[in-house]
Amino acid sequence: MAEGLKRKAFIAVSLCLLVSLGGCGAAETAVFWEKTSKGEEQNMNNFIFENATKVYFGKGCVKEYLACLTKNYGDTVMLAYGGGSVKKDGVYDEIKEVLTGAGKTVIDFPDIMANPTYAKVLAGAQLAREHHADLILGVGGGSVMDCCKAISIAARYDGDVWEDFWVRSGVFDFEPLPLGVIVTAAGTGSECNGGAVITNEELKVKTGRDYPVCNPKFALMDPVYTYSVPKFQMVSGGFDILSHIMETYFSEPNEDNVSDDIAEALMRNVIRSLRAAILNPEDYTARSNLMWDATMAENRIIKLGKRMDFECHQMEHQLGAYTDCNHGAGLAVLHPVYYRHIYKDGLKKFKKFALHIWDISPEGKSDEEIAREGVEALAGFIKEIGLPTTLRQLGADESLDLKAIADSCAIAGGSYRKMTHKEILEIFKECF
Ligand code: NZQ
Ligand code: ZN
Repeated sequence: MAEGLKRKAFIAVSLCLLVSLGGCGAAETAVFWEKTSKGEEQNMNNFIFENATKVYFGKGCVKEYLACLTKNYGDTVMLAYGGGSVKKDGVYDEIKEVLTGAGKTVIDFPDIMANPTYAKVLAGAQLAREHHADLILGVGGGSVMDCCKAISIAARYDGDVWEDFWVRSGVFDFEPLPLGVIVTAAGTGSECNGGAVITNEELKVKTGRDYPVCNPKFALMDPVYTYSVPKFQMVSGGFDILSHIMETYFSEPNEDNVSDDIAEALMRNVIRSLRAAILNPEDYTARSNLMWDATMAENRIIKLGKRMDFECHQMEHQLGAYTDCNHGAGLAVLHPVYYRHIYKDGLKKFKKFALHIWDISPEGKSDEEIAREGVEALAGFIKEIGLPTTLRQLGADESLDLKAIADSCAIAGGSYRKMTHKEILEIFKECF
Protein backbone atom coordinates (compact mmCIF):
# COMPACT_ATOMS: atom_id res chain seq x y z
CA MET A 1 0.00 0.00 0.00
CA ALA A 2 1.28 3.43 -0.90
CA GLU A 3 2.84 5.20 2.09
CA GLY A 4 0.84 8.37 1.48
CA LEU A 5 -2.46 6.54 1.58
CA LYS A 6 -1.43 4.62 4.66
CA ARG A 7 -0.53 7.84 6.45
CA LYS A 8 -3.87 9.42 5.53
CA ALA A 9 -5.66 6.38 6.89
CA PHE A 10 -3.79 6.63 10.21
CA ILE A 11 -4.67 10.28 10.50
CA ALA A 12 -8.27 9.31 9.90
CA VAL A 13 -8.17 6.84 12.76
CA SER A 14 -6.58 9.25 15.15
CA LEU A 15 -9.06 11.94 14.28
CA CYS A 16 -12.12 9.80 14.65
CA LEU A 17 -12.50 10.47 18.37
CA LEU A 18 -12.50 14.20 17.76
CA VAL A 19 -14.98 13.87 14.95
CA SER A 20 -17.24 11.90 17.24
CA LEU A 21 -18.15 15.18 18.86
CA GLY A 22 -18.89 16.80 15.52
CA GLY A 23 -22.32 17.76 14.34
CA CYS A 24 -22.44 21.51 13.92
CA GLY A 25 -19.15 21.23 12.06
CA ALA A 26 -16.53 18.65 12.92
CA ALA A 27 -13.63 21.05 12.49
CA GLU A 28 -15.06 23.62 14.92
CA THR A 29 -15.83 20.88 17.41
CA ALA A 30 -12.34 19.45 17.18
CA VAL A 31 -10.95 22.89 18.00
CA PHE A 32 -13.41 23.20 20.90
CA TRP A 33 -12.23 19.84 22.27
CA GLU A 34 -8.56 20.69 21.85
CA LYS A 35 -9.05 24.03 23.60
CA THR A 36 -10.75 22.53 26.60
CA SER A 37 -8.94 19.28 27.18
CA LYS A 38 -5.25 20.07 27.14
CA GLY A 39 -4.10 18.97 30.56
CA GLU A 40 -6.05 21.64 32.43
CA GLU A 41 -6.63 20.96 36.13
CA GLN A 42 -10.35 20.37 35.95
CA ASN A 43 -12.45 17.33 36.65
CA MET A 44 -14.76 17.56 33.68
CA ASN A 45 -13.63 18.80 30.30
CA ASN A 46 -16.17 20.85 28.34
CA PHE A 47 -18.43 18.86 26.05
CA ILE A 48 -21.22 18.91 23.53
CA PHE A 49 -23.81 16.15 23.88
CA GLU A 50 -26.11 14.86 21.20
CA ASN A 51 -27.83 11.53 20.60
CA ALA A 52 -30.51 11.40 17.96
CA THR A 53 -31.48 7.72 18.14
CA LYS A 54 -34.89 6.87 19.58
CA VAL A 55 -34.72 3.55 21.46
CA TYR A 56 -37.53 1.04 21.87
CA PHE A 57 -36.34 -1.54 24.38
CA GLY A 58 -37.89 -4.77 25.65
CA LYS A 59 -39.64 -8.04 24.98
CA GLY A 60 -41.92 -7.85 21.94
CA CYS A 61 -40.83 -4.35 20.87
CA VAL A 62 -40.39 -5.28 17.20
CA LYS A 63 -43.95 -6.54 16.74
CA GLU A 64 -45.31 -3.62 18.70
CA TYR A 65 -43.49 -0.69 17.10
CA LEU A 66 -41.83 -1.59 13.79
CA ALA A 67 -44.85 -1.02 11.52
CA CYS A 68 -45.58 2.33 13.09
CA LEU A 69 -41.94 3.43 12.91
CA THR A 70 -41.61 2.67 9.20
CA LYS A 71 -44.72 4.74 8.39
CA ASN A 72 -42.61 7.91 8.39
CA TYR A 73 -40.60 6.73 5.39
CA GLY A 74 -41.50 5.71 1.82
CA ASP A 75 -42.65 2.32 0.52
CA THR A 76 -39.32 0.59 -0.13
CA VAL A 77 -37.31 -0.88 2.71
CA MET A 78 -33.87 -2.40 2.19
CA LEU A 79 -33.65 -5.21 4.75
CA ALA A 80 -29.97 -5.81 5.55
CA TYR A 81 -28.66 -8.70 7.63
CA GLY A 82 -25.72 -11.02 8.21
CA GLY A 83 -24.84 -14.59 7.34
CA GLY A 84 -28.13 -16.24 8.18
CA SER A 85 -28.66 -16.35 11.97
CA VAL A 86 -31.81 -14.24 11.54
CA LYS A 87 -33.30 -16.89 9.24
CA LYS A 88 -32.51 -19.75 11.65
CA ASP A 89 -34.01 -18.14 14.74
CA GLY A 90 -37.21 -16.83 13.13
CA VAL A 91 -36.31 -13.14 13.48
CA TYR A 92 -36.28 -12.62 9.70
CA ASP A 93 -39.78 -14.07 9.27
CA GLU A 94 -41.13 -11.98 12.13
CA ILE A 95 -39.74 -8.76 10.63
CA LYS A 96 -40.74 -9.59 7.06
CA GLU A 97 -44.31 -10.25 8.18
CA VAL A 98 -44.53 -6.87 9.91
CA LEU A 99 -43.07 -5.05 6.90
CA THR A 100 -45.26 -6.71 4.29
CA GLY A 101 -48.27 -6.26 6.57
CA ALA A 102 -47.45 -2.54 6.59
CA GLY A 103 -47.52 -2.54 2.76
CA LYS A 104 -43.78 -2.18 2.26
CA THR A 105 -41.78 -3.49 -0.68
CA VAL A 106 -38.84 -5.33 0.87
CA ILE A 107 -35.45 -5.55 -0.85
CA ASP A 108 -33.12 -8.07 0.78
CA PHE A 109 -29.43 -7.30 1.31
CA PRO A 110 -28.02 -10.45 2.98
CA ASP A 111 -24.57 -11.82 3.90
CA ILE A 112 -23.01 -8.84 5.63
CA MET A 113 -19.86 -10.42 7.05
CA ALA A 114 -18.23 -9.91 10.45
CA ASN A 115 -15.75 -7.03 10.02
CA PRO A 116 -17.69 -5.58 7.06
CA THR A 117 -15.69 -4.64 3.99
CA TYR A 118 -15.74 -1.50 1.91
CA ALA A 119 -16.64 -3.65 -1.14
CA LYS A 120 -19.77 -4.81 0.70
CA VAL A 121 -20.66 -1.18 1.48
CA LEU A 122 -20.45 -0.29 -2.21
CA ALA A 123 -22.58 -3.29 -3.18
CA GLY A 124 -25.22 -2.25 -0.65
CA ALA A 125 -25.23 1.33 -1.88
CA GLN A 126 -25.70 0.17 -5.46
CA LEU A 127 -28.68 -2.00 -4.49
CA ALA A 128 -30.24 0.85 -2.49
CA ARG A 129 -29.89 3.18 -5.47
CA GLU A 130 -31.22 0.66 -8.01
CA HIS A 131 -34.39 0.10 -5.99
CA HIS A 132 -34.76 3.67 -4.75
CA ALA A 133 -34.80 2.47 -1.14
CA ASP A 134 -36.44 4.89 1.28
CA LEU A 135 -35.16 3.28 4.46
CA ILE A 136 -32.44 0.80 5.36
CA LEU A 137 -33.39 -1.59 8.12
CA GLY A 138 -30.27 -3.26 9.55
CA VAL A 139 -30.88 -6.42 11.57
CA GLY A 140 -27.90 -7.87 13.42
CA GLY A 141 -24.87 -7.01 15.51
CA GLY A 142 -22.21 -4.35 15.08
CA SER A 143 -21.08 -5.53 11.66
CA VAL A 144 -24.52 -5.21 10.10
CA MET A 145 -25.22 -1.87 11.77
CA ASP A 146 -21.83 -0.41 10.81
CA CYS A 147 -22.11 -1.59 7.21
CA CYS A 148 -25.59 -0.06 6.97
CA LYS A 149 -24.37 3.32 8.24
CA ALA A 150 -21.68 3.38 5.60
CA ILE A 151 -24.24 2.34 2.96
CA SER A 152 -26.49 5.18 4.07
CA ILE A 153 -23.69 7.60 3.14
CA ALA A 154 -22.58 5.83 -0.02
CA ALA A 155 -26.13 5.59 -1.38
CA ARG A 156 -26.42 9.38 -1.35
CA TYR A 157 -22.88 10.45 -2.25
CA ASP A 158 -21.37 10.43 -5.74
CA GLY A 159 -17.68 10.84 -4.89
CA ASP A 160 -15.09 8.50 -3.39
CA VAL A 161 -16.70 7.48 -0.10
CA TRP A 162 -13.59 5.86 1.41
CA GLU A 163 -11.35 8.81 0.65
CA ASP A 164 -13.89 11.49 1.57
CA PHE A 165 -15.50 9.94 4.67
CA TRP A 166 -13.10 7.38 6.12
CA VAL A 167 -9.62 8.68 5.24
CA ARG A 168 -10.62 12.23 6.07
CA SER A 169 -13.41 13.76 8.05
CA GLY A 170 -16.48 13.92 5.78
CA VAL A 171 -18.53 16.96 4.90
CA PHE A 172 -22.28 16.40 4.93
CA ASP A 173 -24.00 18.69 2.46
CA PHE A 174 -26.62 15.93 1.99
CA GLU A 175 -28.77 13.72 4.23
CA PRO A 176 -27.65 10.08 4.43
CA LEU A 177 -30.32 7.52 3.57
CA PRO A 178 -32.36 7.01 6.78
CA LEU A 179 -31.44 3.95 8.82
CA GLY A 180 -33.30 2.01 11.49
CA VAL A 181 -31.77 -0.95 13.34
CA ILE A 182 -32.95 -4.08 15.10
CA VAL A 183 -30.23 -5.35 17.43
CA THR A 184 -29.63 -9.11 17.67
CA ALA A 185 -26.30 -9.21 19.55
CA ALA A 186 -25.06 -7.07 22.45
CA GLY A 187 -21.58 -5.63 22.12
CA THR A 188 -20.55 -2.69 20.01
CA GLY A 189 -23.25 -0.21 21.00
CA SER A 190 -23.42 0.79 17.34
CA GLU A 191 -27.22 1.14 17.67
CA CYS A 192 -26.90 4.47 19.46
CA ASN A 193 -23.99 6.20 17.81
CA GLY A 194 -22.87 7.24 14.34
CA GLY A 195 -19.83 4.95 14.40
CA ALA A 196 -19.05 2.67 11.49
CA VAL A 197 -15.90 0.55 11.45
CA ILE A 198 -15.12 -0.60 7.93
CA THR A 199 -12.32 -2.79 6.55
CA ASN A 200 -10.68 -1.74 3.32
CA GLU A 201 -9.27 -5.09 2.24
CA GLU A 202 -7.23 -3.66 -0.58
CA LEU A 203 -5.41 -1.20 1.70
CA LYS A 204 -5.36 -3.51 4.75
CA VAL A 205 -6.88 -0.80 6.90
CA LYS A 206 -9.77 -1.22 9.34
CA THR A 207 -10.93 2.14 10.57
CA GLY A 208 -13.89 3.83 12.16
CA ARG A 209 -15.63 7.17 11.98
CA ASP A 210 -18.42 8.44 14.18
CA TYR A 211 -20.78 10.84 12.43
CA PRO A 212 -23.75 11.94 14.54
CA VAL A 213 -25.73 12.40 11.31
CA CYS A 214 -25.42 8.60 10.84
CA ASN A 215 -27.02 7.73 14.18
CA PRO A 216 -29.89 5.34 13.42
CA LYS A 217 -33.27 7.08 13.44
CA PHE A 218 -34.57 4.33 15.70
CA ALA A 219 -33.23 1.21 17.43
CA LEU A 220 -35.41 -1.72 18.41
CA MET A 221 -33.81 -3.79 21.17
CA ASP A 222 -35.45 -7.02 22.28
CA PRO A 223 -33.13 -8.92 24.66
CA VAL A 224 -34.87 -12.19 23.71
CA TYR A 225 -33.35 -11.82 20.21
CA THR A 226 -29.92 -12.27 21.80
CA TYR A 227 -30.73 -15.68 23.40
CA SER A 228 -29.51 -17.47 20.27
CA VAL A 229 -26.10 -15.74 20.12
CA PRO A 230 -23.49 -18.55 20.49
CA LYS A 231 -21.51 -18.50 23.75
CA PHE A 232 -18.24 -17.42 22.14
CA GLN A 233 -19.87 -14.44 20.43
CA MET A 234 -21.78 -13.55 23.58
CA VAL A 235 -18.62 -13.38 25.71
CA SER A 236 -16.67 -11.63 22.98
CA GLY A 237 -19.44 -9.01 22.67
CA GLY A 238 -19.50 -8.77 26.48
CA PHE A 239 -15.77 -8.17 26.57
CA ASP A 240 -16.12 -5.51 23.86
CA ILE A 241 -18.56 -3.68 26.15
CA LEU A 242 -16.08 -3.88 29.04
CA SER A 243 -13.30 -2.70 26.75
CA HIS A 244 -15.29 0.37 25.62
CA ILE A 245 -15.85 1.30 29.25
CA MET A 246 -12.22 0.72 30.28
CA GLU A 247 -10.85 2.62 27.28
CA THR A 248 -12.90 5.60 28.42
CA TYR A 249 -12.35 5.20 32.18
CA PHE A 250 -8.55 4.95 31.93
CA SER A 251 -8.04 8.52 30.77
CA GLU A 252 -8.12 12.01 32.21
CA PRO A 253 -9.77 13.37 34.23
CA ASN A 254 -9.09 10.97 37.10
CA GLU A 255 -10.70 12.75 40.02
CA ASP A 256 -14.34 12.90 41.02
CA ASN A 257 -16.51 12.96 37.90
CA VAL A 258 -19.90 11.51 37.10
CA SER A 259 -18.76 9.80 33.87
CA ASP A 260 -16.29 7.61 35.79
CA ASP A 261 -18.89 6.78 38.43
CA ILE A 262 -21.33 5.59 35.76
CA ALA A 263 -18.49 3.66 34.12
CA GLU A 264 -17.74 1.79 37.35
CA ALA A 265 -21.39 0.81 37.78
CA LEU A 266 -21.49 -0.40 34.18
CA MET A 267 -18.30 -2.46 34.51
CA ARG A 268 -19.61 -4.24 37.59
CA ASN A 269 -22.89 -4.90 35.80
CA VAL A 270 -21.20 -6.33 32.68
CA ILE A 271 -19.09 -8.72 34.77
CA ARG A 272 -22.06 -9.89 36.85
CA SER A 273 -24.44 -10.21 33.88
CA LEU A 274 -21.92 -12.04 31.71
CA ARG A 275 -21.41 -14.63 34.45
CA ALA A 276 -25.19 -15.04 34.78
CA ALA A 277 -25.75 -15.32 31.01
CA ILE A 278 -23.04 -18.00 30.75
CA LEU A 279 -24.88 -20.05 33.38
CA ASN A 280 -28.25 -19.49 31.72
CA PRO A 281 -28.30 -18.05 28.19
CA GLU A 282 -32.03 -17.39 28.56
CA ASP A 283 -31.69 -15.28 31.71
CA TYR A 284 -33.76 -12.27 30.62
CA THR A 285 -32.38 -10.01 33.32
CA ALA A 286 -28.76 -10.76 32.39
CA ARG A 287 -29.42 -10.43 28.65
CA SER A 288 -31.27 -7.16 29.04
CA ASN A 289 -28.55 -5.77 31.29
CA LEU A 290 -25.88 -6.71 28.76
CA MET A 291 -27.88 -5.21 25.92
CA TRP A 292 -28.30 -1.90 27.71
CA ASP A 293 -24.73 -1.93 29.08
CA ALA A 294 -23.54 -2.12 25.47
CA THR A 295 -25.61 0.90 24.50
CA MET A 296 -24.61 2.89 27.58
CA ALA A 297 -20.93 2.24 26.88
CA GLU A 298 -21.12 3.73 23.40
CA ASN A 299 -23.99 6.24 23.37
CA ARG A 300 -21.47 8.98 24.34
CA ILE A 301 -22.77 9.39 27.91
CA ILE A 302 -19.74 7.96 29.76
CA LYS A 303 -17.42 9.79 27.37
CA LEU A 304 -18.67 13.22 28.36
CA GLY A 305 -15.85 15.29 29.82
CA LYS A 306 -13.37 12.44 29.27
CA ARG A 307 -10.28 12.43 27.11
CA MET A 308 -10.54 8.70 26.18
CA ASP A 309 -7.83 6.23 25.23
CA PHE A 310 -8.95 3.62 22.64
CA GLU A 311 -5.36 2.57 21.85
CA CYS A 312 -6.31 -1.09 22.33
CA HIS A 313 -9.07 -0.57 19.77
CA GLN A 314 -6.58 0.91 17.30
CA MET A 315 -4.34 -2.14 17.78
CA GLU A 316 -7.23 -4.60 17.49
CA HIS A 317 -8.58 -2.94 14.37
CA GLN A 318 -5.27 -3.35 12.54
CA LEU A 319 -4.95 -6.90 13.85
CA GLY A 320 -8.41 -7.43 12.37
CA ALA A 321 -7.40 -5.84 9.06
CA TYR A 322 -4.58 -8.40 8.75
CA THR A 323 -6.24 -11.50 10.28
CA ASP A 324 -10.04 -10.90 10.20
CA CYS A 325 -10.10 -11.92 13.88
CA ASN A 326 -13.16 -11.56 16.06
CA HIS A 327 -13.25 -8.02 17.52
CA GLY A 328 -13.97 -8.79 21.19
CA ALA A 329 -11.61 -11.78 21.23
CA GLY A 330 -8.79 -9.65 19.79
CA LEU A 331 -9.39 -7.05 22.50
CA ALA A 332 -9.32 -9.76 25.17
CA VAL A 333 -5.84 -10.84 24.06
CA LEU A 334 -4.50 -7.29 23.96
CA HIS A 335 -5.97 -5.60 27.04
CA PRO A 336 -4.08 -7.22 29.95
CA VAL A 337 -0.73 -6.96 28.15
CA TYR A 338 -1.37 -3.33 27.23
CA TYR A 339 -2.40 -2.50 30.80
CA ARG A 340 0.73 -4.19 32.21
CA HIS A 341 2.62 -1.66 30.08
CA ILE A 342 0.77 1.46 31.22
CA TYR A 343 -0.64 0.88 34.74
CA LYS A 344 2.27 2.57 36.53
CA ASP A 345 1.59 5.76 34.55
CA GLY A 346 -2.01 5.82 35.77
CA LEU A 347 -1.43 4.24 39.14
CA LYS A 348 -4.17 6.00 41.09
CA LYS A 349 -6.82 5.08 38.56
CA PHE A 350 -5.66 1.48 38.21
CA LYS A 351 -5.73 1.19 42.02
CA LYS A 352 -9.31 2.50 42.03
CA PHE A 353 -10.19 -0.05 39.31
CA ALA A 354 -8.73 -2.87 41.46
CA LEU A 355 -10.62 -1.77 44.57
CA HIS A 356 -13.95 -0.76 43.04
CA ILE A 357 -14.33 -3.34 40.28
CA TRP A 358 -12.46 -6.42 41.49
CA ASP A 359 -12.73 -5.95 45.27
CA ILE A 360 -9.01 -6.46 45.73
CA SER A 361 -8.05 -6.28 49.41
CA PRO A 362 -5.64 -3.37 49.94
CA GLU A 363 -4.26 -4.58 53.25
CA GLY A 364 -0.49 -4.59 53.54
CA LYS A 365 -0.03 -3.80 49.83
CA SER A 366 1.59 -0.92 48.02
CA ASP A 367 -0.44 1.08 45.49
CA GLU A 368 1.54 -0.60 42.74
CA GLU A 369 0.72 -4.09 44.04
CA ILE A 370 -2.98 -3.27 44.33
CA ALA A 371 -3.09 -1.79 40.83
CA ARG A 372 -1.26 -4.78 39.36
CA GLU A 373 -3.67 -7.18 41.08
CA GLY A 374 -6.55 -5.38 39.38
CA VAL A 375 -4.97 -5.95 35.98
CA GLU A 376 -4.39 -9.63 36.84
CA ALA A 377 -8.01 -9.95 38.00
CA LEU A 378 -9.06 -8.70 34.57
CA ALA A 379 -6.76 -11.28 32.94
CA GLY A 380 -8.28 -13.98 35.17
CA PHE A 381 -11.80 -12.96 34.17
CA ILE A 382 -10.90 -13.25 30.48
CA LYS A 383 -9.76 -16.84 31.09
CA GLU A 384 -12.79 -17.60 33.23
CA ILE A 385 -15.26 -16.63 30.48
CA GLY A 386 -13.37 -18.63 27.87
CA LEU A 387 -11.85 -15.96 25.66
CA PRO A 388 -8.40 -16.39 24.07
CA THR A 389 -5.42 -14.96 25.91
CA THR A 390 -2.76 -15.22 23.18
CA LEU A 391 -2.52 -14.36 19.50
CA ARG A 392 -1.78 -18.01 18.85
CA GLN A 393 -5.10 -18.98 20.42
CA LEU A 394 -6.66 -16.35 18.17
CA GLY A 395 -5.39 -18.36 15.19
CA ALA A 396 -2.17 -16.48 14.40
CA ASP A 397 1.07 -18.23 13.46
CA GLU A 398 4.69 -17.17 12.79
CA SER A 399 3.84 -16.01 9.27
CA LEU A 400 1.96 -13.03 10.68
CA ASP A 401 3.93 -9.84 10.08
CA LEU A 402 3.62 -8.27 13.53
CA LYS A 403 5.86 -5.35 12.61
CA ALA A 404 3.71 -4.38 9.65
CA ILE A 405 0.62 -4.53 11.85
CA ALA A 406 2.26 -2.54 14.64
CA ASP A 407 3.51 0.11 12.23
CA SER A 408 0.04 0.48 10.76
CA CYS A 409 -1.63 1.18 14.13
CA ALA A 410 -2.83 4.69 14.86
CA ILE A 411 -1.48 6.35 17.98
CA ALA A 412 -4.56 7.46 19.90
CA GLY A 413 -2.69 9.59 22.43
CA GLY A 414 -5.44 9.81 25.07
CA SER A 415 -3.91 7.28 27.43
CA TYR A 416 -1.72 7.70 30.50
CA ARG A 417 1.28 7.06 28.29
CA LYS A 418 1.46 7.71 24.57
CA MET A 419 2.38 4.55 22.69
CA THR A 420 5.09 4.31 20.05
CA HIS A 421 5.06 1.81 17.19
CA LYS A 422 8.06 0.15 18.83
CA GLU A 423 6.14 -0.42 22.07
CA ILE A 424 3.06 -1.63 20.18
CA LEU A 425 5.28 -4.22 18.49
CA GLU A 426 6.57 -5.32 21.93
CA ILE A 427 2.95 -5.69 23.08
CA PHE A 428 2.06 -7.80 20.04
CA LYS A 429 5.11 -9.99 20.65
CA GLU A 430 4.16 -10.45 24.32
CA CYS A 431 0.64 -11.38 23.20
CA PHE A 432 1.95 -14.09 20.92
O1 NZQ B 1 -23.96 -13.05 10.46
P1 NZQ B 1 -24.93 -13.79 11.29
O2 NZQ B 1 -25.32 -15.11 10.73
O3 NZQ B 1 -26.12 -12.96 11.70
O4 NZQ B 1 -24.15 -14.20 12.66
C1 NZQ B 1 -23.58 -13.22 13.49
C2 NZQ B 1 -22.06 -13.18 13.37
O5 NZQ B 1 -21.57 -14.41 12.94
C3 NZQ B 1 -23.78 -13.65 14.93
N1 NZQ B 1 -25.05 -13.23 15.50
C4 NZQ B 1 -25.51 -11.97 15.67
N2 NZQ B 1 -26.71 -12.02 16.27
C5 NZQ B 1 -27.03 -13.31 16.45
C6 NZQ B 1 -25.97 -14.10 15.96
N3 NZQ B 1 -25.97 -15.45 15.99
C7 NZQ B 1 -27.05 -16.04 16.54
N4 NZQ B 1 -28.10 -15.35 17.06
C8 NZQ B 1 -28.12 -14.00 17.03
N5 NZQ B 1 -29.14 -13.32 17.59
O6 NZQ B 1 -22.72 -13.03 15.63
C9 NZQ B 1 -21.57 -12.99 14.78
C10 NZQ B 1 -20.84 -11.70 14.98
O7 NZQ B 1 -21.64 -10.59 14.62
P2 NZQ B 1 -20.95 -9.15 14.48
O8 NZQ B 1 -22.01 -8.19 14.12
O9 NZQ B 1 -19.76 -9.24 13.61
O10 NZQ B 1 -20.41 -8.89 15.98
P3 NZQ B 1 -20.26 -7.58 16.78
O11 NZQ B 1 -21.56 -7.08 17.24
O12 NZQ B 1 -19.22 -7.89 17.79
O13 NZQ B 1 -19.69 -6.51 15.73
C11 NZQ B 1 -18.32 -6.44 15.40
C12 NZQ B 1 -18.02 -5.32 14.43
O14 NZQ B 1 -18.35 -4.03 14.98
C13 NZQ B 1 -17.17 -3.18 14.99
C14 NZQ B 1 -16.05 -4.19 15.10
O15 NZQ B 1 -14.80 -3.66 14.76
C15 NZQ B 1 -16.52 -5.27 14.15
O16 NZQ B 1 -16.27 -4.92 12.81
N6 NZQ B 1 -17.27 -2.16 16.04
C16 NZQ B 1 -18.17 -1.16 15.90
C17 NZQ B 1 -18.29 -0.13 16.81
C18 NZQ B 1 -19.27 0.97 16.65
N7 NZQ B 1 -19.94 1.10 15.53
O17 NZQ B 1 -19.48 1.79 17.55
C19 NZQ B 1 -17.41 -0.02 17.97
C20 NZQ B 1 -16.68 -1.30 18.27
O18 NZQ B 1 -15.53 -1.00 19.04
C21 NZQ B 1 -16.27 -2.10 17.09
O19 NZQ B 1 -15.05 -1.68 16.54
ZN1 ZN C 1 -15.07 -2.37 20.44
